[in-house]
Formats: sequence, C-alpha cells, structure tokens
Amino acid sequence: MTQTIAVLAGDGIGPEIMAEAVKVLNVLKTSDGLDIALEEGLVGGIAYDVKGHPLPPETLALAKRADAVMLGAVGGAKWEPLDISLRPEKGLLGLRSALNLFANLRPASIYPELADASPLKPEIVSGLDILIVRELTGDIYFGQPRGIRTLENGEKQGFNTMVYSESEIERIAHVGFQSAQKRQKKLCSIDKANVLECTEFWREVVTRVGKQYPDVELTHMYVDNAAMQLVRYPKQFDVIVTTNIFGDILSDLASQLTGSIGMLPSASLDANNKGMYEPIHGSAPDIAGKGIANPLATILSVAMMLRFSLGRADLADKVESAVKKVLAQGFRTRDILGNASTSQYKLVNTQEMGQAV
Ligand code: NAI
Ligand code: MG
Repeated sequence: MTQTIAVLAGDGIGPEIMAEAVKVLNVLKTSDGLDIALEEGLVGGIAYDVKGHPLPPETLALAKRADAVMLGAVGGAKWEPLDISLRPEKGLLGLRSALNLFANLRPASIYPELADASPLKPEIVSGLDILIVRELTGDIYFGQPRGIRTLENGEKQGFNTMVYSESEIERIAHVGFQSAQKRQKKLCSIDKANVLECTEFWREVVTRVGKQYPDVELTHMYVDNAAMQLVRYPKQFDVIVTTNIFGDILSDLASQLTGSIGMLPSASLDANNKGMYEPIHGSAPDIAGKGIANPLATILSVAMMLRFSLGRADLADKVESAVKKVLAQGFRTRDILGNASTSQYKLVNTQEMGQAV
C-alpha cells in the first residue's frame, strides 16, 4: 500500500535542504520500489504569509493523514515582530503537540571522515556515538500559566512554568531505557533535581521506571555538569534522556562535538512510531539562498524515517552508507570544515552534495 509522506519545507534553507531529501526519496522510489507518495504542505513563516497562520488547518490535516512527516526548518527575522502565537516556530510546536510526538531522538555520532571538522581534539571525539532522547511535548515550552504580566507595583514580569506529569515522564523514560537496551545499555538521565521540584520528580519517576530495566545501568546528572561533561569527556555517554528544554540546549551542544549542526538528523515519534523527521538545526537565515547549506542532516533524517516509520531499515542503511561514501570522497559543505582556511575548502553547493548522495 502506498505510504504518504507530508513534505513541509518551511523557511530559510528549509526548501534548499528539503529538495535534496526529496531527490533521495525519489531515487529510492524508482531504484528500490519504495512505494510512497509525497505531498507538500506549508508550515512556518511561509504558511503565515500565504495562509495567515504558521500551521494552517490543511497542513495539520495532511500531517495527521500522512504516514510520516518530513520537515525542513522554520523561522526568520521577517516574522520576529509577530506575536509569539503566530510566529513560525509555533507551527513546529503545534505539529509536535497535535501529533503527540513526545519522543525526540537525536543521535550524535562522529563520522571518521570528519574527525578534523570537530572543534574538539580527535582523541576526545573519535568514535563518539551518543543518542539524546529529548522529551518533546511537555516542560516549560508548553506549561501554563505563561505570559508577561504587570504587577501591582506597575513593574512588568515575564513568566513560564515548568510542568511534567507522571505519565509524561514515564513514557519518555521507557523510550530512554528501551533505546539503551539496543545500544550499550547505559542511560544517563539529566535534570536539575537539586533546585527544581519538577525535575526532582522527574528523577524519582525515571528511577522507578528503571526497576523494570535491570539490564540497563541508570545514572543521573545535573544539567550544568552534563554540559561540562559533554565537552570534557563525551564518550562516557551512551543514551541520554532529558526534559524538553535541557534536551534542546544539550543537543545543540552535542552537535558541535560531531563537527556541524548541519550533520544531525532527528526523529520525533508518537507512541506508535508515527513520526516527524527533521534536521536539528533551524532555518539558518545567514546562509539561506546561498546554496551552501549542508543537506546531510535532512538526508539522514530521511534514513531515520525509513527505519522508524516506513519499516525499511534496509533502505535506511543504504542512505546512511551513501552519506558515508560521499564524505569519504571528500564532499564537504562549508560548515564541515569549521575553521579551515578558505583555500582548503572543498566547496560544493547544496545541489552537488545532495546529488552526490
Ligand atoms: P540555526 O540552526 O538556524 O543556525 C545556527 C548556525 O548554524 C547558523 O550559523 C547557520 O548558518 C548554521 N547552520 C544551521 N544549519 C546549517 C546547515 N544545514 N548547513 C550549514 N550551516 C548550518 O539557528 P538560529 O540561527 O538560532 O535560528 C535561525 C532561525 O531558525 C530562527 O528563526 C529560529 O527560531 C529558527 N529555528 C528553527 C528550528 C526548526 O525549524 N526546527 C530550530 C532552531 C531554530
Ligand atoms: Mg533547538
């Protein structure tokens, strides 16, 4: 039966990188008989411009109907003056919440071919293979009450609320433990239990769920220490499970261990492995339209989609090995060379990188 993929390119470099991911999917359609139909939809700033809302009802309906969703990136300076409820980022948060995509899997592993692209010393990052499991539909991003209020003395005050219910923590903890079971059987839960009651509760619930997984070694770490440890000695981690906001921040940090945020894919899954797949980076307005964005994070997100939602692990392997091969051949977008001098750039445009894969 034909599976439907919603293709939501979004803003900035979104359409540039998505075009390359679509190219890969189309190749798999013809060469490997992948039975999919791609349906495009508007999300983010472009959706606001055309439809007046960052997540128009027809896009939400498409995402709900589809077997999986591919998303590029949203946002840009043009939409910053808008009320937060109409900003492009709301389109993304709205999709995560409406589709109940509570489990965000963000692998950060280093390609041997890119050992020199990390800002860290090779001995610190070589062989690095971490999976960050970030809770995605709770925490301060969704907690109520929230807003900006005026106090009795006339001073204004901004406020957001960190909230986690027991069931929300339990289900993400299970994803963390089960992911660890498939890997090195080590799970580190990251919180700020020393000062935030909400995450003190997080630690308590994760510990209790852990009793069901005696084969997984569970440790806990405060988020500030985790930030330090990820830079100091990242190879101590196997799977990390953490809250929405800590996961957001730590996964950007982890991306730099591997060389570039342009390399890191993600899967956001519901309880039935229906998912949305996207690079972890944003719309990169600073390089949009220049043809230098790295499409590999998006192409690797295609591989995650094939593995988790479409039941085609074989094709996921194929895409991932194509990426490795292309890197081995020396194809590099500008971001993967970090601080190298201009003369050392093997600068290819997005189209060539995607084409090569
Ligand atoms: P960003 O991730 O867009 O960019 C950060 C830096 O990484 C920039 O220097 C950019 O050029 C570079 N970069 C990102 N992706 C790249 C790629 N594929 N190839 C090469 N270089 C790449 O984060 P920033 O600048 O904080 O946010 C820009 C906009 O994106 C904002 O409007 C923000 O709200 C939005 N955003 C959207 C996200 C999403 O759609 N999932 C996630 C994060 C931010
Ligand atoms: Mg982020």
